[in-house]
Amino acid sequence: MSAGDKILGDRVLLVQLRMALASVAFAILGGALSVLHYIPEVSVMLEGVGLGLTQLRPIHTAFTSVWIYGAAVAVIYHYLHKQAGGLSAGDIRRFWFHTTLWLIAGVGILVTLLAKVFSGREYVGFHEVFSAILLLGWFAFAWTFLRRLAKGFWAQPIYIYFWTVGILYFIYTFLEWHAYLLPGVGDNPVRDLQLQWKSCGTLVGSFNFLVYGCLVYASERMSGDKTYGQSKTAFGLFFVGCLNSFTNFAHHTYHLPGDHWVKWIAFVVSMLEAIILLHLIYGITQMLKNKQQGGEYSAATGYMVSAKWWTTIMLVGGIAISVPQFNSLIHGTHMVVGHAMGTELGIDTMILFGAVTFLLSDLHRSSPQALARLSNLRVRRQTRLLNVAMALLVTWLSVSGTVHGIYRYEGLPAPDWLGWGWFLFPLCGFLVGGMLIMVLLRWFPLLSAPQLRAEDSPSQG
Ligand code: HEM
Repeated sequence: MSAGDKILGDRVLLVQLRMALASVAFAILGGALSVLHYIPEVSVMLEGVGLGLTQLRPIHTAFTSVWIYGAAVAVIYHYLHKQAGGLSAGDIRRFWFHTTLWLIAGVGILVTLLAKVFSGREYVGFHEVFSAILLLGWFAFAWTFLRRLAKGFWAQPIYIYFWTVGILYFIYTFLEWHAYLLPGVGDNPVRDLQLQWKSCGTLVGSFNFLVYGCLVYASERMSGDKTYGQSKTAFGLFFVGCLNSFTNFAHHTYHLPGDHWVKWIAFVVSMLEAIILLHLIYGITQMLKNKQQGGEYSAATGYMVSAKWWTTIMLVGGIAISVPQFNSLIHGTHMVVGHAMGTELGIDTMILFGAVTFLLSDLHRSSPQALARLSNLRVRRQTRLLNVAMALLVTWLSVSGTVHGIYRYEGLPAPDWLGWGWFLFPLCGFLVGGMLIMVLLRWFPLLSAPQLRAEDSPSQG
């Protein structure tokens, strides 16, 4: 690969990373403003300036999803640039094409949600025209990735299969998600809810697959150990994950009419996926720790280890809230918000933080200062504090949601101490938001192009 190609490839990576990290920043801002609505006086004030919860919540949830997809796309570009023969002129053109579209969609979503233009749907609360723009950009990205498969699909490491299926699932489920626009779906509430949850389940499956691929790819590159990329556990996760993508909708629809055996299958398959993921991530973190024995602290490994603990906690929580009797109690309470935030923050975001740390370390590998900035004991302390803040947030949401559900079932007024939510939810949310901003600030100076390395100099290209 010539020096010019390397520089162009590095630039693509950095632009994609900036887009992903800007999405986390918008997600934090949306979350922080949303949580202020729990303080009644501030809520009235925010409503007064046109920042209602109905606008802020979709901004928050849309940008958290965009963050997860965006970071996974950055990791995939790293693979294409460094491992799969580099980026062709066509790849670079398609990159700028989808980047332009995604920027237009991002700005458009922000502006129109603030202007109260909603679709009213969960996670895709914005106008459908932006869905079309996002999807068009995704087609260009999919083309860049999938065209590599023409050179061979079999005997590839598992992350290629995870990414391939994740990319294709996204197209299918995103289209299905908009089935409410069809007559016969949008005007039939039960069918609409069933379809919405089915596509939502598969969409979660699509980003899980992209994230699992990033987990295996980043840890393989960090450790140099390729066994996990071909292990039975990884392939087990792939097959069960594929199955789960089509069955997991039923564990969100216990409250809708449907056959019980379908719900049982959903429960067993999704818990099996979580157990295999736990097994895989346990092995991977052990492998990374063995590799650095006696060595210095690695922030990337630290984030992966955090994801391992969060997978354990969320697995236990997931089993609990899937028990039908308990599920009917906590449905629609903050217990579910705690579960969604715990999994997206604790599992997906932690794995992606590990992968982003790896990408930045690789981009700046010839700069000892940059490497020291990415991994040091202060980062270890900050990661621990972030975990503590997240644990406080998830615990408060889970406890308050459960108590609320039980009192609601008994027909009793909520106990007085639940009223502390006006203070505790914003406090925990701001702690998490503050710690996340510290991570972003640490990475910020490393988001510009690395110095031209000696081995990249044109004379050697
Ligand atoms: C990358 C970080 C974050 C992720 C991945 C995330 C994820 C989520 C998800 C998935 C939901 C929807 C839950 C549901 O299904 O009902 C949600 C809701 C929410 N999040 Fe976050 N979140 C993040 C950071 C934050 C921060 C820093 C704050 C506060 C400062 C926050 C405050 C909220 C609030 C207020 C809601 C709405 C709660 C409600 O509906 O009453 N989030 N978040």
